[in-house]
Amino acid sequence: MRVGIVGLGYVGLPLGVAFAEEGHSVVGLDVAAQRVEAVNAGDSYIEDIPSERLAALGERLHATTRYADLANCDAVIIAVPTPLTPNREPDLGPLIGSARSLAGVLQKGQLVLLESTTYPGTTRETLVPLLEESGLAAGTDFNVGFSPERVDPGRTDFTLRTTPKVVGGLTPECHRRAVELYREVCDNIVEVSTPEAAELTKLLENVFRSVNIALVNELAILCDRMGIDIWEVVDAAATKPYGFMRFDPGPGMGGHCLPVDPFYLAWRAREFDTQTEFIELAGEVNQGMPYFCVERVTRGLNTQAKAVNGSRIVIFGVSYKAGVGDLRESPALKIMRLLGERGADLAYHDEHVPSLPTFGLESLPFDQALEGADAAVIVTAHPGVDVQALVDRAPLVIDFRGVTRGIRADHLIRL
Ligand SMILES: NC(=O)c1ccc[n+]([C@@H]2O[C@H](COP(=O)([O-])OP(=O)(O)OC[C@H]3O[C@@H](n4cnc5c(N)ncnc54)[C@H](O)[C@@H]3O)[C@@H](O)[C@H]2O)c1
Repeated sequence: MRVGIVGLGYVGLPLGVAFAEEGHSVVGLDVAAQRVEAVNAGDSYIEDIPSERLAALGERLHATTRYADLANCDAVIIAVPTPLTPNREPDLGPLIGSARSLAGVLQKGQLVLLESTTYPGTTRETLVPLLEESGLAAGTDFNVGFSPERVDPGRTDFTLRTTPKVVGGLTPECHRRAVELYREVCDNIVEVSTPEAAELTKLLENVFRSVNIALVNELAILCDRMGIDIWEVVDAAATKPYGFMRFDPGPGMGGHCLPVDPFYLAWRAREFDTQTEFIELAGEVNQGMPYFCVERVTRGLNTQAKAVNGSRIVIFGVSYKAGVGDLRESPALKIMRLLGERGADLAYHDEHVPSLPTFGLESLPFDQALEGADAAVIVTAHPGVDVQALVDRAPLVIDFRGVTRGIRADHLIRL
């Protein structure tokens, strides 16, 4: 088969690589010319795809900026971003742009699948009419479906092949073709009856995480007031063999998905005269966590008769999660901005993020980072950071990830 992938990011590039590794001919399209050049040079910019793996594909994965190159594909999968506007409403701009461009080259018999996370109804009400501007009819001249992506960057125990893939087609024939395509790269296909069910499945998964993280974050704030160790409580609750699922508190939610996707559903729900209060409340609690973290740092410094203003505060881990360098919506950036506004002298250590141009900072080596530090703040706990050494050497340690559990010290504060 000849498979087109629109959007060569965290979702699109691994997907293109998977099809190419199965022997299919893949055309990867991106509007970012430097990404296209990198892919064609076998130079990966996605951490989960080593450059050697990309280079080994040779001609089987060809990247382009020209939509016309998709005209002879059997199937085209769209994986463009679905962000929020500054007012936290769905921004379907990239999706609409890519659908319009695709309509200009769409051919009879092609299968178009959407993988971008979005609210129920997007495939049928937005994508299909745009594609039909080609003069072709969905369901008869070409096929359409939705299949959410479940990739979790940095995860190695589940891959694209071993993670069940949810698929919903517009018509039975659309569905059949979509399932047939994904069987090439996934072992377990979960069939749902409509694109809307597939769209909402993805949002349920993300809302579930967001709400549960907010719940445990709220308890962390309560525990702080009550003088109870939240980590001890979570560890103990997690011993229940049924009816409880562990979620850890933290400095707030980051990444492209959890801080964004639930609001797609909340926005759509309003059109149906429904308020999704769990979603809004979870967003409020999680977005408030960086402010709580700054207050904890302030109180921590206060115990040593110091102010945030003028103190050297070193952040350990600035990406949004452990083991990756992804900075999108990272709570560390918000915490740093707030501390900076309060006069802190900031530095950071993160081997996954060499520099933070917006702060004019570069990651300092572990030892250098601790030189002259008034406080070390663990915001993202990357593996390989020697937490014991951190506690031994820093005059004040504030741990928002619970990785210092088991260490006792007067100058150590945990969320
Ligand atoms: N990253 C994840 O782990 C993940 C997981 C599940 C779902 N998703 C969803 O998948 C979608 C894509 O996310 P991502 O993380 O891969 O985004 P990304 O930003 O990493 O990549 C998207 C790519 O699309 C390109 N692009 C933007 N507009 C385009 C256009 N009009 N035509 C062609 N290319 C265009 C961008 O240049 C970029 O390279 C989003 O809806 C996201 O919510 C992401």
